[in-house]
Amino acid sequence: MSSGASFYITTPIFYPSDVPHIGHGYTEVAADVLARWHRQSGDDTWLLTGTDEHGQKMLRTASANDMTPREWADRLVESSWLPLLDTLDIANDDFIRTTQERHETSAAAFLQHLYDTGFIYTGDYEGYYCVGCEEYKQPSELVPGTGPFEGELVCAIHSKPVELLQERNYFFRMSEFQDRLLALYEERPDFVQPESARNEVMSFVRQGLADLSISRSSFDWGIQIPWDPQHVVYVWFDALLNYITAIGYGRDDENFRRRWPGIQLVGKDILRFHAVIWPAMLMAAGLDVPKHVFAHGWLLVGGEKMSKSKLTGIAPSQITDVFGSDAFRYYFMRSITFGQDGSFSWEDLSARYQAELANGFGNLASRVVAMITRYFDGRVPEPGALAEADERIRATVATAAAEADAAIERFAIHEAIGAIWAIVEELNGYITEQEPWVLAKKPEQRERLSTVLYTAAEGLRALTVLLSPVMPASTAKLWSALGAEATLGPLLEQPLREAGTWGRLPAGATVSALEALFPRIEQEAGVGAAR
Ligand code: ME8
Ligand code: MG
Repeated sequence: MSSGASFYITTPIFYPSDVPHIGHGYTEVAADVLARWHRQSGDDTWLLTGTDEHGQKMLRTASANDMTPREWADRLVESSWLPLLDTLDIANDDFIRTTQERHETSAAAFLQHLYDTGFIYTGDYEGYYCVGCEEYKQPSELVPGTGPFEGELVCAIHSKPVELLQERNYFFRMSEFQDRLLALYEERPDFVQPESARNEVMSFVRQGLADLSISRSSFDWGIQIPWDPQHVVYVWFDALLNYITAIGYGRDDENFRRRWPGIQLVGKDILRFHAVIWPAMLMAAGLDVPKHVFAHGWLLVGGEKMSKSKLTGIAPSQITDVFGSDAFRYYFMRSITFGQDGSFSWEDLSARYQAELANGFGNLASRVVAMITRYFDGRVPEPGALAEADERIRATVATAAAEADAAIERFAIHEAIGAIWAIVEELNGYITEQEPWVLAKKPEQRERLSTVLYTAAEGLRALTVLLSPVMPASTAKLWSALGAEATLGPLLEQPLREAGTWGRLPAGATVSALEALFPRIEQEAGVGAAR
């Protein structure tokens, strides 16, 4: 299933200076849902994630813990960042670390190429640097500090003091790309998404672009500048390159051509790096810019961005230990408009878990499987002619599948799930109206009962396929309980873009017992986790 169009999607590579929180989990899940959708649609899919291990933030955190940055990164990657992918059921194809040789080799080749073609020169720079952002700040981006930093200027994002740095270093001629970038945003309105992000980037670039300082000589934790080993590459310049070094830039041309250009999914905090610096770097190197840069919103806690540096982070396992990985994935993808900020609350999570997953989807699945077991000895019955109500289900399924696919194409993950959920609601209403338990008492209604339960099972078949990118664990259980595994093959091999075609589940398939997909959560557990 990989002969289709290339779909290469990336997450940011995260700083393993600290452990992940649900904000990082959110990005991972969104990228994974999109990747699973495309993979299961037959597109030539590749999902990349990883860690950003150079720079001052890593160096300082490691020193504060009496370790080398390499030791610190190894420890955090092994103990926290790789396990995060299991916790959230992320089916990534690769994991890049910027300390890997493949990355360092390709990044050095890229720099050398830019140097040889005249896009890099030596200059002097003085400015305020925020180590939290790993970025020079304009005076307009600083605010007066409070508390321990009263009387100082601090970074508006991290609320921590900035440092005045003065250095002779290498510069990238980014200012030369202002016009080409503006033309790109104009000609390809879907290059930066959503619209609010595009507007922000356009007005930023219209104000004018300065050249970018891309090396440091005051510390040595980074990739050496190939022609001047006294300098290391600026951590953002190094990090952005991961999107092409991981797929073989400078090492494996064939694979590089197969995958690139890709899609960069990021949080809006790092939009400018991705929508301005990154395409300018690619243009300078004569490479294609990404297909899209999509900036999602922030998870907020008490109205503020959840963050490690402000200690408001919630570990993803706090949620998955209680509710499971599918509920985590469903909740964040369904409850937040993708591209906008969203507030997390335990109450909202619990309420949706109970209403939508346990009572809505889970209960529907167990009722249908139980009735087929009871009334047809566990065999999916042969349907008779479809009545109007049955046709309505069939139409709902077809519409939901088409709408969901179109929404995913627009990165509207929340809309895709909303469209699919019409099947859950229609089927629940259908069963209530058709009352199979009443039909079962009347021998002359045997054919009608067969049609109703076939319709319900076939609706569930489509629902299971459509939800599999969002909730891979529960849909896998339901797939096998429906007897679909044995008759139609593995769930992940069911072509998603054909999920809405009616009548795939064969009559005669054998259903089997289904444990509760979303078991009742003891009040105690939910409350305990909230603390
Ligand atoms: O910026 N809500 O790494 P980082 C939603 N290494 N998403 C959030 C979030 C929140 N409250 N907090 C973090 C870096 N994220 C660089 C990236 S890429 C070449 C280099 C997610 O560890 C979101 O994806 O600070 C955000 O963009 C990213 O974590 C920042 O992770
Ligand atoms: Mg950050």
